Amino acid sequence: MGIGMEEKILVTGGAGFIGTHTVLQLLKQGFKVSIIDNLDNSVEEAIHRLRKLVGPQLSQNVEFHLGDIRNEKDLEKLFSQTKFGAVIHFAGLKAVGESVAHPMRYFDNNLVGSITLYKVMAKYNCKKLVFSSSATVYGQPDKVPCVENFELTAMNPYGRTKLFLEEIARDLQKADSEWRIILLRYFNPVGAHESGMLGEDPKGIPNNLMPYITQVAVGRLPELNVYGHDYPTHDGSAIRDYIHVMDLADGHVVALEKLLEHKDIGCVAYNLGTGHGTSVLEMVAAFEKASGKKIPIKLCPRRPGDATAVYASTEKAGKELGWKAKYGVDEMCRDQWKWASQNPWGYQPKPK
Ligand code: NAD
Ligand code: UFG
Repeated sequence: MGIGMEEKILVTGGAGFIGTHTVLQLLKQGFKVSIIDNLDNSVEEAIHRLRKLVGPQLSQNVEFHLGDIRNEKDLEKLFSQTKFGAVIHFAGLKAVGESVAHPMRYFDNNLVGSITLYKVMAKYNCKKLVFSSSATVYGQPDKVPCVENFELTAMNPYGRTKLFLEEIARDLQKADSEWRIILLRYFNPVGAHESGMLGEDPKGIPNNLMPYITQVAVGRLPELNVYGHDYPTHDGSAIRDYIHVMDLADGHVVALEKLLEHKDIGCVAYNLGTGHGTSVLEMVAAFEKASGKKIPIKLCPRRPGDATAVYASTEKAGKELGWKAKYGVDEMCRDQWKWASQNPWGYQPKPK
């Protein structure tokens, strides 16, 4: 048994896309996990699938609690009964467009929710935290790859919640050195567990590229709008750093281990990306190859607020966490297609 494994890990938002894949890897590494999720953007079927995947023995090591991190009582109930060794904090809202239309919903859920969580954590003397940040804090970077010490900015209310929450974490740790905090800045998470049993199941019409392509491939949407074909890139479409969700999940396990084993972490940020940029058109081609499906496209104007090229410097995570992404876009598309072809309507049955 490794250091800290006797203590339970609380995973907020553990029923969601990145949360389920991370919990799976935590269980496989021998951690005991409690999930709190209000199922605002997820379904309990994801937890049932997770249990099935790990089998009857390991599934005894995961508990699911329906609750909201904005509700102190929900958190008190958990913390008063269980000693948590650390918290991995995924719970939050993440749709950029929705955050522009309804900023207060984002400030309330992401800011109030996180502050409430941190208050209860401090009260119960659980001061080890892994936080889901985002490459959105780099805004439209002047240079790529993005390095952790770049100046940070916010492009929209969602991004502002990530930026504020990073600043809050830094202030918290500065004021009380018992806190150990790792901020993980994800680039573009895609793909699914290789079994095809877990994956991303967005509600409504997807905003993000990969879920949109997937829904075109399974016939739920007619064609992909390619936003921007006049960018100064080799094929005119925008470039991002897509990362397989299983690589991301493993990144959380190593970050957690580092938190548990090292006293003098402070508050530190790491990029989780592959370090490679892929254009929208290259992503479409890779998905067509993996799925054998033709993805009809329509070339459209640029999406407001989008950057030309964003990809990660992976040096710091490599050096300090010993973590490196294993998968490339072919595996991302292969696993995304397996999930989508086995679950064309996500975790739901086909609507009648
Ligand atoms: P997701 O929506 O699939 O998962 C988030 C989970 O949190 C959901 O299950 C939702 O029901 C839950 N939740 C939301 N508000 C809650 C609350 N108040 N109390 C309890 N549970 C709550 O999203 P995801 O893609 O798994 O993202 C996880 C985290 O990573 C989020 O914080 C997101 O902002 C961040 N992130 C995601 C991406 C991405 O592209 N997927 C990129 C960068 C950062
Ligand atoms: N795109 C299309 N058509 C679509 C959807 C997207 O052409 O239907 C393009 C976008 O214009 C962009 C690229 O595909 O050039 C990637 O777009 P996504 O929406 O998938 O991802 P973003 O890089 O814009 O943003 C995502 C999350 C943010 C997060 C950021 C970094 O939505 O919340 O990754 O983690 F901050």
